[in-house]
Amino acid sequence: MEISGPITAGQVSVLLGFIPILVAWIYSELLLYWKNSSSTKLGRDCDGHSVGLDIRPLSEEANIRLLEGSLPTPSSKARKSSPSLVRFFLMDKDFLLENYLTLRSIAEFGALLAYFYICDRTNLLGESTKNYNRDIFLFVYFLLLIVAAMTSYKVHHDKSPFSGNSIQYLNRHQTEEWKGWMQVLFLMYHYFNAKEIYNAIRVFIAAYVWMTGFGNFSYYYVRKDFSLARFAQMMWRLNFFVAFCCIVLDNHYMLYYICPMHTFFTLMVYGTLGFLNKYNEHGSVMAVKVAFCFLVIILVWEVPGVFDVVWSPFAFLLAYQDPDSSRTQYPPMHEWQFRSGLDRYIWIVGMIYAYYHPTVERWMEKLEETEAKLRIAIKATVATICLVIGYIWYEYVYKLDKYTYNTYHPYTSWIPITVYICLRNITQQFRGYTLTLLGWLGKITLETYISQFHIWLRSGGPDKQPRMLLSLIPNYPMLNFMLTTAIYIAVAHRIFELTNKLKMVFLPSRDGKRLMFNLAAGVIISITLYALSLVLLNLPKMLHMQA
Ligand SMILES: *[C@@H]1O[C@H](CO)[C@@H](O)[C@H](O)[C@H]1NC(C)=O
Ligand SMILES: *[C@@H]1O[C@H](CO)[C@@H](O)[C@H](O)[C@H]1NC(C)=O
Repeated sequence: MEISGPITAGQVSVLLGFIPILVAWIYSELLLYWKNSSSTKLGRDCDGHSVGLDIRPLSEEANIRLLEGSLPTPSSKARKSSPSLVRFFLMDKDFLLENYLTLRSIAEFGALLAYFYICDRTNLLGESTKNYNRDIFLFVYFLLLIVAAMTSYKVHHDKSPFSGNSIQYLNRHQTEEWKGWMQVLFLMYHYFNAKEIYNAIRVFIAAYVWMTGFGNFSYYYVRKDFSLARFAQMMWRLNFFVAFCCIVLDNHYMLYYICPMHTFFTLMVYGTLGFLNKYNEHGSVMAVKVAFCFLVIILVWEVPGVFDVVWSPFAFLLAYQDPDSSRTQYPPMHEWQFRSGLDRYIWIVGMIYAYYHPTVERWMEKLEETEAKLRIAIKATVATICLVIGYIWYEYVYKLDKYTYNTYHPYTSWIPITVYICLRNITQQFRGYTLTLLGWLGKITLETYISQFHIWLRSGGPDKQPRMLLSLIPNYPMLNFMLTTAIYIAVAHRIFELTNKLKMVFLPSRDGKRLMFNLAAGVIISITLYALSLVLLNLPKMLHMQA
């Protein structure tokens, strides 16, 4: 087996951290198994003593004591109250039994990361080249749409919170479906190397960033929850998995440029709303805030030289250079400048749309109540205007070549997005249905985005772009496509669930003290593991020098 790239301290630390957890997990499963198989025998014993006591804890403790093969020790009480870390290192049996589900999740997550490593960094599995054929590309895509329409067409009857007699504008269902169908095209664009839809992909990414502004604005504006717990959970959701991918596969954060971009724009929305959030109700304060956002973006991205000054302190996080590109004359921060620059305004547009969302919703309510003739006339006019504008955009902007298009993109991407939103909501019926299969895919976009690099496509080395495909069935490209896709989607979905499960465990919403403790423990453990692996990696060298 060949490994591409040297072993890094980060990889060793993950391994060092993972091994004790793996051991603990196996042990906890064994404990559970023994406990279950012996509980029938023990049940009778315990019942005798349990008068007036809570039966379950007693019998569990008794079981465990019996498993330990010893009499109840006075220390077991003390151990119970000591912090979980200590109990973990002592391999405290109660502790392991209480937390076997968490241990199982971490073990599964580790196994999935190992699969990533095997697929992308070793030569155990094969690789093949990308191949674009418009016919196959469209065939696969429309096949999916047909399947989605046939199996997951769903009409929603959620009522509007305002009047209660028309169908609500179903934000979540619709945005998830929207994310879903765009994500499928985005991924297939990578898989088949469909260069001809480059401009459309740029619009899709703008739409995601629009949704970041829209969704996060609505959330923080309504819920006003700017707590540390919520903030930490948000960061965990966006960066937990990608952080491990970077460490285990020795990549830079910017390889997965969607992640830093969404993190940055989410932080901007959070900051905009969080700053002096008592005054968010005042329209004028909101207007000033939005104007300020525009000003900041204009200053940093449009005034030459400012970008470098502002962002150079973050080069350790955001620098990126493609190791096998001929264009390496670009400075390391160019990638971040390019990617963040493309969608620099659209998140603000998303915020503005979110701010006016209730107003628009009320208008639409009123429109639904007007008599049929007028209503149809208004809707037809709106639809016609949308179509005309959409067509003009398509003719004069979309059809431009990639480089020219990119220069127009930041200022024009709101056009197709607005047109889509209008048309998607044009009639009540149209608004009310979604294809839930696409919605399902829309929920796991972050995971499918990150995973594609390694277990669907293949990059083959640190920081490399995924220019190849993972090949499990050589010489059968379509069959291979089917198999790798099935595994890939299943894995991405599991990672989505594991990320959420572990988030609940490590970042509790209502327990501020535990949250702080966990954060501090996380930092200390990471530093310790990293230091330890640095020593381990340098040990051979040091020994060599002495000898
Ligand atoms: C905020 O934006 C991020 C990034 O797009 C997204 O994952 C998250 O779901 C958004 N939060 C809300 C509450 O919509
Ligand atoms: C219309 O549809 C889009 C997505 O399909 C959604 O995000 C938006 O909130 C909907 N409603 C309104 C009133 O724009």
